[in-house]
Amino acid sequence: MTDQPAPGLQELRAARRKGLGLLVWAFVFSVFVNLLMLTGPLYMLQVYDRVLTSRSVETLVALSILVTMLYALMGVLDYARGRVMARVGARFQTALDGRLFSATLRRSMNPHERAACTAVLRDLDALQNIFVSPVLMAIMDMPWTPIFIAAIFIFHPVLGWVSVVGGAIIIVLALLNQIVTTNRVRTAQIATQRAHAFAEQAHEASEVALSQGMRDSLQRRYKRLRNLALQQNVTANDWTGLFTSATKAFRLFLQSAILGLGAYLVLQGDMTAGSMIAGSILLGRALAPIEQAMGNWPVVQRARAGWRTLERFLAVVPHEPERTDLPRPEARLAVKGLTIVPPGTKKPTVRNVTFTLEPGQALGVIGKSGSGKSTLARALAGYWPIAAGEARLGGATLDQYGPTLGLHIGYLPQTVSLFAGTVAENIRRMSLEPDSQAVVAAAKKANAHEMIMQLENGYDTFLEGNENQLSGGQKQRIALARAIHGDPTLLILDEPNSMLDADGSQALNETVREFKAQDRAVIVMTHRPAAIAECDLLMVMDQGALVAFGPRDEVLSTVLASNPKSARRPQVVRPQKVSM
Ligand SMILES: Nc1ncnc2c1ncn2[C@@H]1O[C@H](COP(=O)(O)OP(=O)(O)OP(=O)(O)O)[C@@H](O)[C@H]1O
Ligand SMILES: [Mg+2]
Repeated sequence: MTDQPAPGLQELRAARRKGLGLLVWAFVFSVFVNLLMLTGPLYMLQVYDRVLTSRSVETLVALSILVTMLYALMGVLDYARGRVMARVGARFQTALDGRLFSATLRRSMNPHERAACTAVLRDLDALQNIFVSPVLMAIMDMPWTPIFIAAIFIFHPVLGWVSVVGGAIIIVLALLNQIVTTNRVRTAQIATQRAHAFAEQAHEASEVALSQGMRDSLQRRYKRLRNLALQQNVTANDWTGLFTSATKAFRLFLQSAILGLGAYLVLQGDMTAGSMIAGSILLGRALAPIEQAMGNWPVVQRARAGWRTLERFLAVVPHEPERTDLPRPEARLAVKGLTIVPPGTKKPTVRNVTFTLEPGQALGVIGKSGSGKSTLARALAGYWPIAAGEARLGGATLDQYGPTLGLHIGYLPQTVSLFAGTVAENIRRMSLEPDSQAVVAAAKKANAHEMIMQLENGYDTFLEGNENQLSGGQKQRIALARAIHGDPTLLILDEPNSMLDADGSQALNETVREFKAQDRAVIVMTHRPAAIAECDLLMVMDQGALVAFGPRDEVLSTVLASNPKSARRPQVVRPQKVSM
C-alpha cells in the first residue's frame, strides 16, 4: 500500500477542492443559522418565565420585535448558505464535466462500455445533486446536535440524559437504515438503468421495431425489465420508508416525552415551565438534522456509489499526455506489420499488413465482407488502436499526432453518423467558429452543394442527429463533405459510394483526382468497382490478411487469373479505365 491516493481519487479530490473556499463560507453561515436556531427556545423561555409572570405587554412586544428580526436574519443566512452550496456543486461539476465527457467519448469506442459511459455522466449528476439537496446542510448542522443537547442538560440533567438516549436510538436507526438499504437501492438503480437503456435502444431502432412486427415482443421485454426494476424500487422504498417513519414517529414521541417529563419536573419544583417548553423545542432542533439526513439518504447512497464509479473510471482513463503539435505532414503513409484488434475483443481482425502509399497516389482496398477493410480504415483514421506494427503518416506514427490527427486525415466511415446541428455545423465538424467558405468548398467537392441548396434552409437546415430528414445518399454526401473539410492530407473513404448515384460517384472520382493532383493521398475501401476507377494501387484483403497489393490493373488480373469465377468485378472496372 502506498500513501499516494489512486489517480482517480486524486482527481475527484482536486475537483472537490475547487469548492472548498465556498464551503468554508457555507460553514460560517451554518454556524450563525444554528446560533439563531436558539431564537425559538429562548423566546419561549422568556415568554413563559418573564412575560407571563410579569404580565408585561411591553416586554412581550419588545421580545417579539427582536425575535422577528432574528428569524428574518436566519432566513436570509439559510438562503445564502443554500445558494453557496449550489455553487459548490456547480464548481465540482464544472471541474469534471469536460474531462469526463472526453474520457467517456474515448472509452465508448468499445461497444461493451458504451452504456457504462452514459452512466458515468449520470453519476456526476448524482454527485452534484448532493450539494443542492438538504442533506449536506443537515450534515453541517449535525455538530450542533451535541451542543443543543448540552443546553438541555443546563435546564435539567434528567432531560439531558433522556435526549442522549433518544438521540442514540435515532442514530442506531440511521445506521440500520444505511446497512439495510444500501444494496437494495443500488440494485434498484441498476435495474432501472437497464430498463432505460433498453427503451433507448428500441427508440433508436424504431424503424425495424415498427416495421417488423416487433412492437409486442419489445413491449413485453420492456415490461419485464420495468417490473423487475419496479419490484426492487418498491422494496428499497419500503425499507427507507420504514426507517424514515419510525424515526419521525420516535422523534415526535421523544419531544412529547420530554415535555411530559419536564411537566413532572416543573410540578416537583425542579424546573420552570419555560425551560420545559424550551427543552422540548431544543430537542426537536437537535434531532432534526439526523432525521433530515435519513430522509435524504438515497441521495447520499447514490452519490457515494457515483463517487466510487467515477474514481474507478478516472483511474482507468487517465489524462491524455500533452503533445507537441506536428506540422502538416506529407501524404506518405508507411504501414508496417499492422495488426488490429477491435476494442473489447481479443482476436485480431487485421493481421500483419504492410504497404506504402506515396503522395499523389490513391489506393483501393477490396475484399469480401468481413475481410477487414473497415477495421483497417478505423485504425488508419486513428479511431481503433494499433495492436502491433506501426502506421506512419509523413514520418510520424499516428498517435504522435494526438487529437490533431483528424486535421490531417479526412475519414468517411462506412456507417454515417451526423450530429444534432445544422448542415454547415456538421460539415465543419461541429466547430463553434463559422467558416462558410471552407464549408461550401468542401460541400462542392463532395457534390453536396446543389443538394444542400435544395433543403428548406440550405446550409442552415437543422438536422436532428442521425434520425433526420435526409436520405441515405444525402447523409453520405454531407459526411463526405465533412471528411474533406479542412483540406486533409490523407482521405480515407469506407464504402464512399455505397449510396451515391451515378453523378455522385463521378463527383467522388473527381475529388480523388483533385487530391492526387495536389500531392495528397486517398484510400478507398469498397465493393463497388466504380470507386476504384481513380486508384493507382489496389489491395485485396481476405480474412484480415493482405493477399495482394500493387498497381491496380496488375492486381486485378492476378485476382482474375486465380479466381476466374469472379469475373463480375473486372467486367465493370475495365471500361472505367477509359475515364482515367
Ligand atoms: N466492433 C467490432 N468488434 C469486434 N469485431 C468486429 C467489430 N467490427 C468488425 N469486427 C469483425 O472484424 C472482421 C472484419 O470486419 P470489417 O468490418 O473490417 O470487414 P469489412 O471488410 O469492412 O466488411 P464489409 O465489406 O462488410 O464492410 C469481421 O469478422 C467482424 O466480425
Ligand atoms: Mg466494411
